[in-house]
Order: sequence, then structure tokens, then C-alpha cells
Amino acid sequence: MRKPIIAGNWKMNMTPTEARKLVDALAPLVADAACEVVICPPYVDLAFVADLLPGTNIALGAQNVHWAEKGAFTGEISAPMLKELGVKYVIVGHSERRQYFGETDETVNLRTKAAINAGITPIICVGESLEQRENGVTDAVVTVQTVAALKDMPEAAVKGLVIAYEPIWAIGTGKTATKEEANETIKVIRDAIRGVFGEAVAAEVRIQYGGSMNPKNASELMAMPEIDGGLIGGASLKPEDFARVVKY
Ligand code: PGA
Repeated sequence: MRKPIIAGNWKMNMTPTEARKLVDALAPLVADAACEVVICPPYVDLAFVADLLPGTNIALGAQNVHWAEKGAFTGEISAPMLKELGVKYVIVGHSERRQYFGETDETVNLRTKAAINAGITPIICVGESLEQRENGVTDAVVTVQTVAALKDMPEAAVKGLVIAYEPIWAIGTGKTATKEEANETIKVIRDAIRGVFGEAVAAEVRIQYGGSMNPKNASELMAMPEIDGGLIGGASLKPEDFARVVKY
């Protein structure tokens, strides 16, 4: 049985003061959640938010990580730095990073390995553009992205990580993939993992859906057999909405 995991991706939102308000409001609302609950604030909020989380059932995640342990990479943050703050999860390869910041399948693979080496669980994002979906290449795109992200990784590491299927056309647009579309593409991703790492790994990897997931559509998406959670952007910025998604 895969334990569902709902993660909030705050993106570039929330000053430390705003972050405190959000966490203070959210913690009691999700205290009895049946799933794993994660929030991914911006880097500058992490240390601050980390201090607010003991005694709650909310785990801390970051939104990116560099692949080197340290060095001359101005503006970057390494996995050991995140680890020391108590970060448990890190989003890797979000489509906004791929689109605006030159993220490639190769760097996604490097970041994934760096996170694993530091004992942080990556949440690896894959997903097709609208054009790719209309051209019928969705399955090929997510398969290539998934296999490339996991290149040269040991089975034991792959088992424990999280993948987020996020169709780019559904992110922040209010357009959600239908539950059938999401379920089918997640099955394709699981099949790709099965092809490389075998059945036991494929059966254990948790795969989230992300893209305009909200309190209204969370329960029908979460009822699908392949969908193990959600990566939530916009709806994670409002404590009541995020709590309703968490309690789908
Ligand atoms: P959204 O973002 O929920 O605002 O569509 C999801 C994401 O980009 O992770």
C-alpha cells in the first residue's frame, strides 16, 4: 500500500511573516490528516518554517537543490544545507524550472542523485506541454523524462522517491486533467519505471498528480488507483483550501 502524499508548492510566494501566518493557520487544520502532508516554501522561509513544524504532522520540502555539495555556484543551494535545516523533500525538475531556468533531463538527474545522497526525498516533476498532448506524444514525453531523471540510480533509491505528473497546460490555468487522463498517464510513468527497475520498485513508487488540483477536484483525482497524491500550487497558499485538499 502506497501512503498518499499531498505537497504544497508555494513557488515564489510568502515572505517569512506571511509564511508564519500560513503555517499557524494550517497546522491545526491538517492535524488529523490521513496522508503525508508536505509544504515547500521558498528557500528564505525554510529555516524559519522549520522552527514552526515540530509538534505538527507537516514535513518540510524545498523547491530545488543544486547537485554539488558546495562550491562556486553563486545563488545556488546544496542538499547538505537543506538537510541541516530539516528538509525532508525537494521538488526537482518543476516545469517552471525547465521552462524559465534551463533545467534539462540531465540536470534533473544530477539534482535527484544529490538529494538522495543527502537523505532527502526528491519529488521529480514530469509532464507534457499542450502541443505535445495535442500531437499525441504525451506517453513518449513522460517516459523519456522519467527514465532520464532516474538514470544510473539504484533500485533501493528509486523505490522511495516521489514523482509528480504535472501536465504543463494544467498548471496555474484552472484546467485540470480529467481523472482518467491523469490516471492513464501516471500508469504510463509507472510502466516506464517497471521497465527499468522491475515490478517491486514500480509498485512502491508514489506518483502524484499536479495541475490546478483544488478542494473541488481532489477527491475524484485521489480515488483513481494510480494517483498517490498531489502537488498543489495555487490552492496551497490558502490554509483552508490546502487543508480541504489534504482531507480529500
Ligand atoms: P497549480 O500548480 O496547482 O497552481 O496548478 C501546481 C504546480 O505547479 O506544482
